[in-house]
Amino acid sequence: MTDLYAKAQSAANFIRSKTPPTPRLGIILGSGLGNFASQVSEPTTIPYSDIPHFPQSTVVGHSGQLVLGHIAGVPVAVMQGRVHAYEGYPLSAVTFPTRVLGLLGCTTLIVTNAAGGIRPNIPQGSLVAISDHINLTGSNAALGPNEPRFAIKPSTGERFFDMSTAYSPALRTLAIDEAARQGFTLTEGVYLAVLGPSFETPAEIRAFRTLGADLVGMSTVHEVIVARHMGIEVLGLSLVTNMAAGVTNEIIHHEDVIEIGRRVERQFTTLLTALIPQIATS
Ligand code: HPA
Repeated sequence: MTDLYAKAQSAANFIRSKTPPTPRLGIILGSGLGNFASQVSEPTTIPYSDIPHFPQSTVVGHSGQLVLGHIAGVPVAVMQGRVHAYEGYPLSAVTFPTRVLGLLGCTTLIVTNAAGGIRPNIPQGSLVAISDHINLTGSNAALGPNEPRFAIKPSTGERFFDMSTAYSPALRTLAIDEAARQGFTLTEGVYLAVLGPSFETPAEIRAFRTLGADLVGMSTVHEVIVARHMGIEVLGLSLVTNMAAGVTNEIIHHEDVIEIGRRVERQFTTLLTALIPQIATS
């Protein structure tokens, strides 16, 4: 997959030509959470459509631009919007921006998403630290010839790679402790990924609960797989925008995803803004 590496390099070179700071931290903002990008000071904003080979989202609520600059003094690259496999993109496109963030110099990735809550004790509007995932999308973003040049540190970029600490326990602890300082409980949960775009049936959600899932969504796992292939540390945060199918009697609407994002925006922003300098020095 030499071609993919060359394309990711050319995207990274283009971004470097637009902005001086080397980002250390990448942030992918999920549905309803895109406004967090306004926290970036002295931003350089690059529409995905300008970046060579970058895929563009077709989903309402995903604006599709990369914002580079600083948050709390830390050089960051914030993706305001992402593409999903359900839009018809191959996983190489879904994970292309993650590859580029790694090549730009990001050693840590904060990946966020909107998710359905499977357990009644994690209600709508909750923020959850992802402790692990179950990939039921039917594929794997690392499929195909291995490209070791994507490694950002020694002993990574290998054909087979460990996923037992895919979501960094140390970063999770920082997030949970910071949430406690801010007066709320950041619950931990297992994120189960489906392909979408249909929401799940109640029978599927019952099955997923039996499998040990706490949250269900249509993103994140492939970005995390690729990040771990490269050796990037990951913090995953889900916003529970709705209870999953059958957990309550309510019908699920995509508009709820956006609306709940707006409601939880301040809590999300305060948590992340306080966390970023701690992550940078951890
Ligand atoms: N299912 C799958 N993906 C989602 C959901 C859901 O209930 N809510 C937000 N993203």
